[in-house]
Amino acid sequence: MLFLIDSADLEGIKKCVEFFPIAGVTTNPTIISSANSDFKKLLYGIREIIGDDKMLHVQTTASEAEEIVREAEALKSLVGGNFYIKIPITEEGLKAIRICKSKGIGVTTTAIFTQQQALMASCAGADFVAPYINRLDNIVSDGVHVVEEIVELFKMQNMNTKVLAASFKTVEQVHKVSMTGAHSVTISPDLFSMLIYHPLTMYAIDAFDSDWESVYGNRKVSDLIK
Ligand code: G3P
Repeated sequence: MLFLIDSADLEGIKKCVEFFPIAGVTTNPTIISSANSDFKKLLYGIREIIGDDKMLHVQTTASEAEEIVREAEALKSLVGGNFYIKIPITEEGLKAIRICKSKGIGVTTTAIFTQQQALMASCAGADFVAPYINRLDNIVSDGVHVVEEIVELFKMQNMNTKVLAASFKTVEQVHKVSMTGAHSVTISPDLFSMLIYHPLTMYAIDAFDSDWESVYGNRKVSDLIK
């Protein structure tokens, strides 16, 4: 399972990379806009924090295939390292996926809401497809079920494309998606903290601390084994 950070907030990314097993960062025009800073500096900043080996997914703002490919090439040479161009699932997008792949550029097809969109993107050569869980749930659809069927479809059809599930608001959504066998998820820095939070864990740690302190005071394990 790969965990990616869905954010362009440098502080949030820094914290996640320090503490969590992170495979990369995903952005989109909304996320980039909310950071409201110099676009190039922002991308350089993210790359500097995550290094060249971790994935960086950046979305095109173009709508025609040739322009999407030009942006993909320019972004790839700008940010370097392990790079994926995010392309929304449209007819022009499908054309762009095939050209990008022929040029050796990694592709994530985004704004996926149905199983057939995912299959089409996969047949065009996408490395990842990004279905939007919470947005499906919000229209009384079932994001987890859509992911479940995409995972199954890819297995049945022997596709190499991976699922990079996106748009999460709750730990329950992340848990259920991970139970489908989806390959990866991209989530906000806040949700990373929630994934490991449990009040009984905090209670257990407090009890360990006070029991230890009642006998050894403020001396630590390291003090006692010198
Ligand atoms: O990467 C796509 C994802 O960021 C969409 O999330 O929260 O805007 O539905 P959201």
